[in-house]
Amino acid sequence: MIRSVVRGNGAALPRRIMKNADFEGMVETSDEWIVQRTGIRQRHVAADDETTASLGEAAARAALDSAGLTPADIDLIVLATSTPNNTFPATAVEIQNRLGMHHGFAFDMQAVCSGFVYAVATADLYIRGGLAKRVLVIGSETFSRILDWSDRSTCVLFGDGAGAVVLEAQEGMGGIADRGVLAASLRSDGVHKDKLFVDGGPSTTGTVGHLRMEGREVFKHAVGMITDVIEATFAQAGITADDLDWFVPHQANKRIIDASAKKLGIAEEKVVVTVDLHGNTSAASVPLALSVAVADGRIKKGDLVLLEAMGGGFTWGAVLLRW
Ligand code: UT7
Repeated sequence: MIRSVVRGNGAALPRRIMKNADFEGMVETSDEWIVQRTGIRQRHVAADDETTASLGEAAARAALDSAGLTPADIDLIVLATSTPNNTFPATAVEIQNRLGMHHGFAFDMQAVCSGFVYAVATADLYIRGGLAKRVLVIGSETFSRILDWSDRSTCVLFGDGAGAVVLEAQEGMGGIADRGVLAASLRSDGVHKDKLFVDGGPSTTGTVGHLRMEGREVFKHAVGMITDVIEATFAQAGITADDLDWFVPHQANKRIIDASAKKLGIAEEKVVVTVDLHGNTSAASVPLALSVAVADGRIKKGDLVLLEAMGGGFTWGAVLLRW
């Protein structure tokens, strides 16, 4: 059977780092509050010349390099983002052009913080359906552009960045010893659409708008939703938490990550945490965390890795793959 195997990965971050202390003169907050409530210590913030497309392009090039491939080898680009360069065309098409790729096809996927998980699950279907052999899956965001910098309850939480993987069709045996995507579970429920949203858009206000969040409400639902979808993924694959080598969750809040891992019985040393370095980078958070854990030698070929995310919509989902 065909499996979608990760052949390479990469990341890109804006040059400027903003520490928690840098907010202290802007809004009524403190490094202590931010660290205690979220685990965030710093985030990267894009300059004017750094965009979702430029960061996505840089992450894509890094992933291609690590795979030993060029854009000529790619059939499809799926970009997970909620902060596109323009309302249209899809920023995926802009990245395709920046890569000098004039064949195949490219589209954006909008599932907010769950975007990368949705995009990997979608790319896997294109590969297993025989519609693409190699897919660049990118998560790229510039949330700094949609933040209300006077709202302390949101502006300290988010950051910018991009991460990417190259998925490649490879022959597998059909069992969980195979490399590649082994199981996936996606969910959404629009009843929660007003708990985390942007208050503008082309069809309503005609403006870009700003991010608004009822943080406590999101927090309240997060752990239950995350653990439900992970348990569904475990059941699909016929595994338990003990079989995992690495848990790479969406990086929104260290307290949500810890509570989810605890509820699932995933040992602390198997959890990849980068929220301290990047803040919440929405669809870029999972591939950025992957890039850190691959670069420092934790995630190795053959390891069983669980990806998970939850975000605006709400959307939530999990992907189990063997690296
Ligand atoms: O990626 C998509 C998913 N998003 C998330 O997962 C975010 C989920 N939510 C959270 O992570 C947390 O709810 C937050 C980090 C947003 C907030 O933490 P919390 O422990 O739920 O705090 P809270 O909202 O209950 O606020 C506690 C207090 C409030 O003051 P009062 O009402 O108790 O006087 C806030 O006004 O903290 C205050 N506060 C702040 N204080 C200092 C809110 N933001 C700040 C701040 N600095 N930046």
